[in-house]
Amino acid sequence: MDMLTIETQPIDGQKPGTSGLRKKTRTFMEPHYLENFVESIWAGIGGVAGKTLVLGGDGRYFSPEAAQVILRMAAASGAARVIVGRNALLSTPAASNLIRKRGTDGGIILSASHNPGGPDEDFGVKFNNANGGPAAEDVTGRIFDATKTITSYKIVEAQDVDLSDLGEHKLGDMVVEVVDPVADYADLMEELFDFDAIRELISNGFTMRFDAMHAVTGPYAKAILEGRLGAAGGTVVNAEPKPDFAGGHPDPNPIWAKELVSAMSGDDTPDFGAASDGDGDRNMIMGPDLYVTPSDSLAVLAANAHLAPAYERGLAGVARSMPTSRALDVVAARKGMECFETPTGWKFFGNLLDAGRITLCGEESAGTGSDHVREKDGLWAVLLWLNILARTGKGVRELVHDHWAEYGRNFYTRHDFEGVDADRATEMFDDLRSRLDGLAGQEVAGRRIEEANEFSYEDPVDGSVARQQGLRVMFEGGGRIVYRLSGTGTVGATLRVYLEDVGEGSDAKDRDAQEALDDIRRAAHEIARIEHYTGRTEPDVRA
Ligand code: G1P
Ligand code: ZN
Repeated sequence: MDMLTIETQPIDGQKPGTSGLRKKTRTFMEPHYLENFVESIWAGIGGVAGKTLVLGGDGRYFSPEAAQVILRMAAASGAARVIVGRNALLSTPAASNLIRKRGTDGGIILSASHNPGGPDEDFGVKFNNANGGPAAEDVTGRIFDATKTITSYKIVEAQDVDLSDLGEHKLGDMVVEVVDPVADYADLMEELFDFDAIRELISNGFTMRFDAMHAVTGPYAKAILEGRLGAAGGTVVNAEPKPDFAGGHPDPNPIWAKELVSAMSGDDTPDFGAASDGDGDRNMIMGPDLYVTPSDSLAVLAANAHLAPAYERGLAGVARSMPTSRALDVVAARKGMECFETPTGWKFFGNLLDAGRITLCGEESAGTGSDHVREKDGLWAVLLWLNILARTGKGVRELVHDHWAEYGRNFYTRHDFEGVDADRATEMFDDLRSRLDGLAGQEVAGRRIEEANEFSYEDPVDGSVARQQGLRVMFEGGGRIVYRLSGTGTVGATLRVYLEDVGEGSDAKDRDAQEALDDIRRAAHEIARIEHYTGRTEPDVRA
């Protein structure tokens, strides 16, 4: 087998964002683009020689080709072994589990999460550490530095490895081990949850619908929900992973999971509805005619997790990303648990999980998870919900309404303004940042501002500091606005405006969140001069 050293030059813009490097698929397909980044990963992790990695992804367009390139490059740089999900498929949480279970030196996940896939859509490459979680800022920083100085990369010339064939293959001296992507993950879920109780619930007539959105969770949900738990055939829909997600946008929210929303509306709906995203780490939870916001879901799960065997001794602590609603904080305070507020992005939970400071954590962007892996986990959230429903005997609506009655309700929504001019967005943030200090005490849209600041985070475990993690405005009485620019977009800038208010008493149950948050929304526009800077009055997405 020939080993080649290919000369190359740095390519601009290979800076890993909130979750690895995400670009248009065609960009990744340009000469040297993927190779430069992969070689820079090797540099960023101190070389791959002698190491064992996990490799897999959500199966989107270009994944099979990218997997072969990565294998040939790993072999060229002396990796000992790469464990690959069959056909290069692995959900993100399953990859995290494999990294941990097999004690590997890390792994590479091929995904752009919930972004559409296809030649004209998005692709992504992310490196995860030996703890199973996304590489921290120091590693991604070193990877980025390497992309700026790269002069060559190494690759072997070889036939494609047959990734449909389970078992060990050789690529030069390196072993490529093709594994069933589902089995280890399904075993883990069975250890964490009370499968007997869920099986009994289902055999008593409880019905559900899980929408895999033509993405990676199809095979996992089929094996677990229909296989191990006995749900009726057809419970899992859109179950076959497609390279372009059948032209859809595999993002589990009421906008993109319309099919699920309509199946859960009106008469004769299933008792429970759920969906997951492209790579299986996000989740959406529904009851009949009820969408549970991710922030509420996180709070409900934290309040009831002890009903699952894995968490029956209680939670060490909990965490949420800063923009996520503070419904979780209320639960933590009542239960006497520590509650951490971290910057957006799962990587910030890693140290807290590793140090045993938290057991459960989540983000408003439909991510929930625990210390069982180091990624958020869509199916895990679905199974914890099912476990709780089975053990309480309550329906989704009853559980959520009881939660609000006990802890109060945090009205919550996120408004996204997509494809905004990046320079104008930066100007808007600079302008608001310069005015933040003077905002306290002012009254806007009938609300008095109590405090305004920019969020920075000092990691309580390693002391590292992340600055400029969102501008926030807090109102008297508990209202809050957070402004952030997305770090995962691939075109222009996406402005995210997170709105929250605290509701108590009888109106908490029946009020529409958008309506309840309308004055906070008006304040958000006025304070940041959103129309002036973006030309927009209405968001593209209300999540
Ligand atoms: C978005 C979400 C964030 C999540 C990330 C990866 O990042 O807001 O919570 O961790 O996707 O799934 P953003 O585009 O806001 O930087
Ligand atoms: Zn995802």
